Amino acid sequence: MKHSDNGFENLTPPRHVAIIMDGNGRWAKERGLPRTLGHRQGVEAVRRAVRAAMELKITYLTIFSFSSENWKRPAEEVDDLMGLMKRFIRRDLAELHEAGVCIRIIGERQQVDSELMTLIDEAVELTRGNDKLTLVIAFNYGSRGELARAARRLAEQVAAGQIDPSEITVERMANALDTSGIPDPDLLIRTSGEMRLSNFMLWQTAYSEFVFLDCYWPDFDKAAFEGAIREFRARERRFGGLTKRSTA
Ligand code: IPE
Ligand code: IPE
Ligand code: MG
Repeated sequence: MKHSDNGFENLTPPRHVAIIMDGNGRWAKERGLPRTLGHRQGVEAVRRAVRAAMELKITYLTIFSFSSENWKRPAEEVDDLMGLMKRFIRRDLAELHEAGVCIRIIGERQQVDSELMTLIDEAVELTRGNDKLTLVIAFNYGSRGELARAARRLAEQVAAGQIDPSEITVERMANALDTSGIPDPDLLIRTSGEMRLSNFMLWQTAYSEFVFLDCYWPDFDKAAFEGAIREFRARERRFGGLTKRSTA
């Protein structure tokens, strides 16, 4: 039998948790270390988060790994982040596959170097049939870009006479996004104390519960994850309607 923390793991988990992994640089700075070491420790935190998500029986975990705005950082840091992504896939893919993790990528393919894109495509292909946990990696991702691409795709269909403008519905929009087929996040976590979305999943988080943690991403662990889920469980989700709790 699995260890359980006062039955914590027996309660229904959020189906989809999305994480804005923030604070690698500040973690390093506080220790007088270069930012790159913060990113390296950040990868360890990713491994812990994936393990914890599986133990907590979460079915979708999205991690914001590189934003479409992160190209603005110094070239050395960008190179470093690209290198870490490559190493992560090379080192962890077999283990993730073995554990039943299905990898999906959201974001813009253009700009990403072809060697990395090939690695990503291979990871997605290899793990396509897995269903224990879907790990959605937001890489070169920006929500406004994603929405613009979706709008363009639908406009092309209209121009080609495949659909009528009146057929552009919320569902069709959702299906034109990179996250097509992925349920909206129930819980969004951002570490490092920043309270903003930074162009992450603007459409998909319409009714997500937001939990902001003060810890820097390299310090994120299962206890922090459970703390966020505990806070999520204490929230009352109304989706615009009324619930028993709000009318009692
Ligand atoms: C998150 O940590 C990692 C990425 C954005 C790639 P940061 O690098 O943003 O760390 P801070 O926010 O500067 O501390
Ligand atoms: C958001 O963090 C992007 C990722 C976590 C990959 P940033 O550190 O880039 O966001 P800002 O610049 O503080 O808004
Ligand atoms: Mg940051």
